[in-house]
Amino acid sequence: MLRMSPRVELSPLTLSDQDEFCTLVRASTELHRPWMQLPATPEEFQVWMRRFEDGTNQGLLVRVRETGEAAGMVNINSIIRGRYQGASLGYAAFAPSAGYGYMTEGLTATLQYAFTDLRLHRLEANIQPANKASLALVQRLGFHYEGVSPAYLYIDGGWRDHERWAITAPSPWTPDPSLPEV
Ligand SMILES: CC(C)(COP(=O)(O)OP(=O)(O)OC[C@H]1O[C@@H](n2cnc3c(N)ncnc32)[C@H](O)[C@@H]1OP(=O)(O)O)[C@@H](O)C(=O)NCCC(=O)NCCS
Repeated sequence: MLRMSPRVELSPLTLSDQDEFCTLVRASTELHRPWMQLPATPEEFQVWMRRFEDGTNQGLLVRVRETGEAAGMVNINSIIRGRYQGASLGYAAFAPSAGYGYMTEGLTATLQYAFTDLRLHRLEANIQPANKASLALVQRLGFHYEGVSPAYLYIDGGWRDHERWAITAPSPWTPDPSLPEV
């Protein structure tokens, strides 16, 4: 387990989560469409898990401590070191536990993990302007609006404009050794 908060815990997504994950994704089709497409079959899941092998992306699960059920997933994607020290977040709730504040709590824990343990300096979330639930979520977390990136991501069969929202590490911040000294 990576982080714990009053109601949820954050753990790495593993191959053993396959059946639970796919079942929850299938139960969440209406919630996720048209914003997010996640693996819904064992084959898709196994292909998808390969993206976490080289450390560039990390897959996390948000679990409700009381019941153990998975409330949602978070990906820390495209981790870039050097002078950037940043990454991009992807996330989705699972329908049975959406709307209880678990994702707000899980993402708060993700920010702590990313800024403290991974020593990242910046996280961004790219969100389609009509995705009101996601925009509300990042505002609750303290992200700042930076602007619109036209045709930024290929989602649901088209290149969609996205609002770019970002947050930087609170101070004091301990840099990763990969940050150049000057
Ligand atoms: C965006 C998304 C992850 C938000 O998930 P969620 O489950 O609604 O998130 P939360 O439950 O943490 O927060 C939402 C609501 O819970 C409420 N809430 C209920 N109980 C709460 C509690 N105990 N503590 C805090 N908040 C609570 C919040 O106030 C908020 O309500 P409001 O929106 O009516 O004001 C979800 O809508 C989703 O999966 N969307 C599809 C995928 C997607 O768009 N991903 C992002 C692409 S950019």
